[in-house]
Amino acid sequence: MTKPTILAIESSCDETSAAVIQGGKVLSNIVATQAVHEQYGGVVPELASRAHQQHIIPVVTQALLQANVAKTELNAVAFTRGPGLLGALLVGCTFAKSFALGLNIPLIEVNHMQAHILAHFIDEPKPVFPFLCLTVSGGHTQVVLVKNHLDMQVIGQTTDDAVGEAFDKTAKMLGLPYPGGPMLDKTAASGNPTAYKFPIGNMPGYDFSFSGIKTSVLYFLREQTKQNPNFVQENLADICASVQYTLIQTLLRKLVQASKELGIREIAIAGGVSANTGLRQTLQEYAKKQNWQVYIPAFQYCTDNAGMIAIAAHYQYLSGDFTDQYASPDPRMKIG
Ligand code: KG4
Ligand code: ZN
Repeated sequence: MTKPTILAIESSCDETSAAVIQGGKVLSNIVATQAVHEQYGGVVPELASRAHQQHIIPVVTQALLQANVAKTELNAVAFTRGPGLLGALLVGCTFAKSFALGLNIPLIEVNHMQAHILAHFIDEPKPVFPFLCLTVSGGHTQVVLVKNHLDMQVIGQTTDDAVGEAFDKTAKMLGLPYPGGPMLDKTAASGNPTAYKFPIGNMPGYDFSFSGIKTSVLYFLREQTKQNPNFVQENLADICASVQYTLIQTLLRKLVQASKELGIREIAIAGGVSANTGLRQTLQEYAKKQNWQVYIPAFQYCTDNAGMIAIAAHYQYLSGDFTDQYASPDPRMKIG
């Protein structure tokens, strides 16, 4: 079967998503975002699991309907095994197992971070192996050496907070509503990125650190609001632009170093933070400066979605990488 039809489920965090893929072509990609977390200013794991329970059947039904594929046409069912929230992953895993069992078809377990990277193989242009991928999300910040669809090596990662967390936490300090990252991005658009200076984290090798930036923003705001209680309101766009600029510089410094040392000029970004306007623009500029071929995912494939789980499952299906009825979530699942 070189043109398998696969149903894929994603439930690692706060998006319940299902997609159908046929011969490597994504036919549908339905995402139900959980609004329930907004009032808490962050994802509440217990509520995420419950919302997945509520959404999973309607989302899968919609995905099959939009793809115009009957359950009986499916060749496999795929699900996110990890990393992610245990309760949330359990919903997708249990659903996928039952569905596959009912249809008597194989099951495929997918690594969420690997899937973020493989989202680049949904549409054209596709990166050429080997390439470097900066994988930036709410829980991870990694430089990954991608040797082929299923062979990847993490060569650098954050030693403390993920960059998405740094976006979200600084946004919260500035009083921006959840989800903070996209709000900070929007506000930064009209600000001056060099208005304020924050330290660029410097770690050995290709590793990152973001906790220093977070603390320095906190102290900076404390100091400024002592002198002017309206400092944040009056300078919000400039503060956002400066924080965003620092985070992007921290990321790109390591990417440039890795590219030079490994002699690889095929460069991709993946994960929720790859939706950031500043990062996307800066990467385009670096493409010219560094003579890079850059790959930036379409917005719908940046944040969590089952389309990326589906494309990963497609390659796993072709290589015969199936799992069994004992499959269980792995909240700390690693690449490789
Ligand atoms: O990959 P993702 O959807 O979920 C995880 O696997 O974590 O990434 C979510 C992260 C959050 O921290 C969110 O604030 C951030 O991606 N994010 C952004 C933007 N859109 C999403 N950060 C900065 N700018 C954006 N436009
Ligand atoms: Zn993700």
